[in-house]
Amino acid sequence: MPDNIANQIAAGEVIQRPASAVKELLENAVDAGATEIKLLVNDAGKSLLQVIDNGKGMSETDARMCFERHATSKISNIEDLFRIRTMGFRGEALASIAAVAQVELKTKKADTETGTYIEIDNSLVKKQEPIAAANGTSIAMKNLFFNVPARRNFLKSNAAEMRHIVDEFIRVALAFPEILFTLSSNGQQVFYLEKGSLKQRIVQVLGSQYSSKLVTVQEKTDYLNIYGFIGKPEAAKKTRGDQYFFVNSRFIRSPYLHHAVMNAYQEMIPSDSFPLYVLFIDLDPAQVDINVHPTKQEIKFEDEKIVYAFVQSAIKHALAQFSVTPTLEFDLDPTIQQLDAVTKPFTHDKQAAATESDIYKNFTQQHQAHVANPAERSSLQNWKIKDGSDNESFTTQKEEGFESLLDQLKKEEVDTNASSIQYPPFAGASGGRPASQYQRIELLINDQTQFLQLHNSFIIVPTNRGFILVNQQLAHERILYERFSASLNGKAMATQRSLFPVTLTLSTADAVLLGDLKPDLHDLGYEVESFGKDSFVIQGTPADIEQGNEKNTIENLLEQFKHFSSDLKFSKREKLIRSLTWQHSVKAGTSLGQKEMKSLIEDLFNCTQPNMSASGNPTYIEFKKDYLEKLFSR
Ligand SMILES: Nc1ncnc2c1ncn2[C@@H]1O[C@H](COP(=O)(O)OP(=O)(O)OP(=O)(O)O)[C@@H](O)[C@H]1O
Ligand SMILES: [Mg+2]
Repeated sequence: MPDNIANQIAAGEVIQRPASAVKELLENAVDAGATEIKLLVNDAGKSLLQVIDNGKGMSETDARMCFERHATSKISNIEDLFRIRTMGFRGEALASIAAVAQVELKTKKADTETGTYIEIDNSLVKKQEPIAAANGTSIAMKNLFFNVPARRNFLKSNAAEMRHIVDEFIRVALAFPEILFTLSSNGQQVFYLEKGSLKQRIVQVLGSQYSSKLVTVQEKTDYLNIYGFIGKPEAAKKTRGDQYFFVNSRFIRSPYLHHAVMNAYQEMIPSDSFPLYVLFIDLDPAQVDINVHPTKQEIKFEDEKIVYAFVQSAIKHALAQFSVTPTLEFDLDPTIQQLDAVTKPFTHDKQAAATESDIYKNFTQQHQAHVANPAERSSLQNWKIKDGSDNESFTTQKEEGFESLLDQLKKEEVDTNASSIQYPPFAGASGGRPASQYQRIELLINDQTQFLQLHNSFIIVPTNRGFILVNQQLAHERILYERFSASLNGKAMATQRSLFPVTLTLSTADAVLLGDLKPDLHDLGYEVESFGKDSFVIQGTPADIEQGNEKNTIENLLEQFKHFSSDLKFSKREKLIRSLTWQHSVKAGTSLGQKEMKSLIEDLFNCTQPNMSASGNPTYIEFKKDYLEKLFSR
């Protein structure tokens, strides 16, 4: 197999999209000791992606070598692999980039007069010459995937690819606040991040709304250190995205550690909210395996449970401290170092001991102001029970409902002229069944029909064959799903202009995402306009949809969208439709009036597929007359 083909295949692991190249190039610049790093992109990195640093540069030989596979200056023997302190160690990144783009490298070391210029095309050196250059390195890659059309076609829209680039940029920028970072896109500056403290960097990147809402986390033990910032409970957002873990300065994804943080916040924030965190865990490199995935974003801890317990108690500790002394920065608490969970192997006994320890107890005592009072919660429960059993209007409504249902069922036998709607046959209504099974399902409803809503969640509707029990939420999801789908397939939804347009300020990453979704949102009836950097004005919402908290809707939409993002089986539009459908649907537990129930039922049966929700659950269950009669047969 020719070298360049082998390189292209190997490159696929490391460089999947422009953002992967951004990550690799930024990390190389960090490893080179740069104090200033500039990232320039054109067309979301598809036509140009360039990183310029003022780091230590490369000698002429190194410059030529660096594009060879497994050329790394960072480790020289197997022991080094267990002591990795640099971001890179495989010697794969530049070789991969050279295999899938045209690359221009300019580099100069501070102690040499001239620098080196190298041009590479399809893994081959096309040109090499000495040049005058500033100290440091500049690597420009042009026309990414020009020689791998299948990959190039696989790239998403510029807005979507830009979003990935911003994500990677932010991850590196957060990990190194002592480095100046800039990002320009098509000649326009998107980020200019001055050197500063971690706190300043967080505010620069994630938004000034956090400036007074950050709590310091700082705990040290012999096993590991954890430091960084977490958001105060009131700053928690419905949107995911401001959660960052770095292990030895490397951004990692870890649902397991995320869970540890969420656990520490329990009772302080609503269960559908996410607190900000930017947490750094430093530990002996021998205790982590970073070599589990080519992008190094997944790691394995030697002992995951210790890290979990440690993260959780450090967060609880920080939250407890802040509730008492909100404005001070705190000293380390020596008690955490003595926690068995931290110093000894983790067992269930140890876990019990940990919860008995002072630090946990202090946490709960000091925290009373922030957790919902248990007494309040129990009275809430009482109230709910009352609502269900003692509430008078509920009882009368119930009786009326049953009467009219029985009336309807009786009428069905005699009144063949009842104004009823006919619907296509119910799935499965065939085979050697009793005659009534062949009948098409017909709803027996008219203007006088009284619907009965059970537990504010289910609606009973009489039919020619018995009755159906409709799940109001799933039914409404089906209706909205079809309506939104139609609106993205040419029948754009009418927009209702808002009388009081709402402004929405997002993090830069979310703003890029919303920018990407804007055209589709427009077809769905949402008129969202850019309004300066990272801000938007919501000018209008879909006309048929109940007006509400538009700001929340958009925030939830972004959150939901990111949630669905990992799901590759759905297209972008499908994800949008599903998010909106879920958000706008009438939830179980919502009391509905007669009119609302009637139009819900009618709309459901006007759908092309009324019997199933988009998620594949039945929207209603049919109870057939034969079956009902059998239940009572003697
Ligand atoms: N910006 C830079 N400044 C100085 N030297 C660099 C720079 N970028 C790359 N190098 C040199 O080129 C070598 C190869 O880089 P490459 O990114 O391919 O591998 P790596 O960083 O060692 O490992 P990894 O594949 O894990 O990133 C590096 O080891 C380093 O010596
Ligand atoms: Mg590297």
